[in-house]
Amino acid sequence: MVRVFINGYGNIGKRLASAFSHDKEIQFVGIGKYSIDDRVDEAFAKKFAVYVPEQKIPDFRQRGYDISGTISDAVKESDLVIDAAKDGFGYTNKVNFYIPMNKSAIFQGGEDRTGEKKVADIIHNSRINYDKVANQKYVIQGSCNVSGMGRIMQPMIEKFGDKIQRYDVTLIRRWADLEDTKDVKDSIEWDKNPHHQEDVKSFLPSVKLYVESYKVPSRMMHLHQMTIRFKNKIPYFDSLSDIYHEEFGVAVLDKANGTADIRLKARELGFEHDDTNMVHLHEETMRKSDDTLKILYSDDQTGIVIPENHLLFQSMMFGRPKNMAYEHTDSLFQISKKRDMLEKEFNT
Ligand SMILES: NC(=O)c1ccc[n+]([C@@H]2O[C@H](COP(=O)([O-])OP(=O)(O)OC[C@H]3O[C@@H](n4cnc5c(N)ncnc54)[C@H](OP(=O)(O)O)[C@@H]3O)[C@@H](O)[C@H]2O)c1
Repeated sequence: MVRVFINGYGNIGKRLASAFSHDKEIQFVGIGKYSIDDRVDEAFAKKFAVYVPEQKIPDFRQRGYDISGTISDAVKESDLVIDAAKDGFGYTNKVNFYIPMNKSAIFQGGEDRTGEKKVADIIHNSRINYDKVANQKYVIQGSCNVSGMGRIMQPMIEKFGDKIQRYDVTLIRRWADLEDTKDVKDSIEWDKNPHHQEDVKSFLPSVKLYVESYKVPSRMMHLHQMTIRFKNKIPYFDSLSDIYHEEFGVAVLDKANGTADIRLKARELGFEHDDTNMVHLHEETMRKSDDTLKILYSDDQTGIVIPENHLLFQSMMFGRPKNMAYEHTDSLFQISKKRDMLEKEFNT
């Protein structure tokens, strides 16, 4: 059994904890919490062991919380830490805890791969470089947008390869997650230098990819408009299902009008945390014109990276063959079943 600690219990950390605590291959050490708020009660209600920074133990105990120990204790007890800290804090955690205690760690997409605060040399995307992260000590799980782009681009590359000239992607990103308490600002903000382009190119170095990114006042999913320019006429295919039918974590939907339709359907269907854990291609918006294919897909920002972390964990800790890892992740997250349910809801 591998002992796993989730350091950080925000939007991503709480989802990681829900999933990893149910995996029978894992001895779940607990979660790291830094502030006293409703999420502490949530963690105790789920019977997770809660670890906090040493200096905060008196505050937590004074409020009646039965704290299991310090962050340092939890890291010491673990074989792998999944760091789910606020952007940038993963680096501090690596320097203060993971390196001195010689522990493996997975970092999230808000951490750096280059520069002074880099935490790892490689960004994982299960569809592309699952095998390359086997037995690595430090790896970044690509962010939601980066995970989604890889999941859509790699099947295109495998099917049409050198017939494709370039990809242009416009990311339309939600302002805040559903659970966030911060206000949604009434503005459309542009990103002068979206990190997603270089992140994707780190695992798909030979593609010509150009990314623009805008943040909009929504709490629902992200939407990606991808334009694929071919060298000649678009090769024939009938439906996006011809390309994505067998793809793990890709649903091909018709008849959804927007990102909220899908998020609210996930809630109605009882999916945990209202997550679909996948990307959803919107077939009815596909446009073909001579050499140019335009596709639109929504990306479950909070959900998609959780099974990706679980796949990455299996490669790092067990070096397990990819098809077996997909099977194990599917049994935990029920992604194929959820995809079938969504396709039934939106395609009939
Ligand atoms: N939200 C998304 O949709 C999404 C999707 C993909 C990837 N990501 C990435 O996932 C990471 C976490 O994002 P998030 O949305 O979960 O953020 P979040 O909701 O703001 O949660 C961040 C958590 O970090 C905790 N924290 C503070 N200092 C810490 C430390 N030194 N070590 C560990 N944890 C610490 C905070 O604890 P307290 O609350 O107790 O202070 C908070 O619970 C980021 O890298 C982000 O870019 C986010």
